[in-house]
Amino acid sequence: MTRFAKSVEALRASQIRDLMSLATRPGIISFAGGMPGNDLFPLKYIDKITAELTEREKQVAMQYGPTTGLPQLLESLSEFLKKKGLPVESHKLIITTGSLQAINILAKAFVDINDDIIVENPSFIGALSAFKSYEANINSCGLDDEGIIIDDLKNMIESLEAQNRKPKFVYITPTFHNPAGVLYTYRRRKQLVELLAGHDIPLIEDDAYGDLTFESTDSADLTPIVSMAGNSLEVCYTGSFSKIIGPGLRLGWMLVPPTIYRKCELIKQAFDACSPSYTQVLADKFLRSGVIYDYLAEIRVEYKKRAKEMIKQLEEYLPKEVKWVKPRGGFYIWLRLPEGVNSTEILKDAIEQGVVFVSGKTFDPEDNADNAIRVSYCNTDVDTIARGIPIVAKAIKEHLKNK
Ligand SMILES: Cc1ncc(COP(=O)(O)O)c(C=O)c1O
Repeated sequence: MTRFAKSVEALRASQIRDLMSLATRPGIISFAGGMPGNDLFPLKYIDKITAELTEREKQVAMQYGPTTGLPQLLESLSEFLKKKGLPVESHKLIITTGSLQAINILAKAFVDINDDIIVENPSFIGALSAFKSYEANINSCGLDDEGIIIDDLKNMIESLEAQNRKPKFVYITPTFHNPAGVLYTYRRRKQLVELLAGHDIPLIEDDAYGDLTFESTDSADLTPIVSMAGNSLEVCYTGSFSKIIGPGLRLGWMLVPPTIYRKCELIKQAFDACSPSYTQVLADKFLRSGVIYDYLAEIRVEYKKRAKEMIKQLEEYLPKEVKWVKPRGGFYIWLRLPEGVNSTEILKDAIEQGVVFVSGKTFDPEDNADNAIRVSYCNTDVDTIARGIPIVAKAIKEHLKNK
């Protein structure tokens, strides 16, 4: 018998993933994915950039590069992040192979077997899988419409500390949460910094969606926590090109305190030596030319249009027992169903009717609660949203009736 490492024995394909494989048949309407719209990729810009590469640039693109990233991309990305108010002078930047790699690197840097960490409930499944693969002991804390519930977090930290189990870090997605869609308020961000600084616990701030706001880009609620914390708290900030250019680049980044940077560089060296040079060259040109700003303006409008249609349909068709928050940006709406409702059963019915979404259990760090549904509007046009949501609503109503 194949003798796997203990750390991977516990990794299993979920029932949801098996269900999802049924959901790829032609014609099915998908609110399941967390990917950008296929029709929205900046193909004309990418074609132009590629066509204009010099021979020297192509050689760099085909070669290995430095582990922390190509110098030109580090420079243009620093400029981009600085404009958003991120602390690029006090922190150090590493280009990673998607931001999921940044999360993996941080997990490896901090977690020994059975170390306690704290995440939100619900939480991004990719990060949960990474934390599980390092055998972290995952504790989860609830979210409300303003962000993580501070009193619950405080009680959890104090209870762990009283048992000599000080958490290694807290991991959150405060800006257009996946799957909950929530944008933390400025007030909640501030309370979080104060709480964690008082306990000297690092924060991982995952910001994969921050550029996809439907409102003004200078709303205080969009302030990155890393730039609010100053020296009071170690914040490791992660970001990604996946939702703002395309996940096919496989490029993300981490902006971390200098003490943490050195270890992360060594860990990345062992993972993959360097991230793809080819796509780093493209991403650099995209930023340096300023095209990124025009493109972001275009996709914000389009995602907002899709979100608006989904909101309209949900308002019209969902029963009142289902609670949800209107998204202010990002890709997702999180539908909270009454306790005891099994969203995986609803999903099975919806798939039969031709629509797929992701059921709540997928995002529960405790692998338990299933009374929620994530619907995403990112990769579906307005007409398809208008056809699909009534079908989701009907499947939900049927289950509520039979409960
Ligand atoms: C919250 C969050 N963080 C990180 C990622 C990882 O993105 P990538 O590795 O493509 O940069 C995703 C992808 O869906 C995400 O939703």
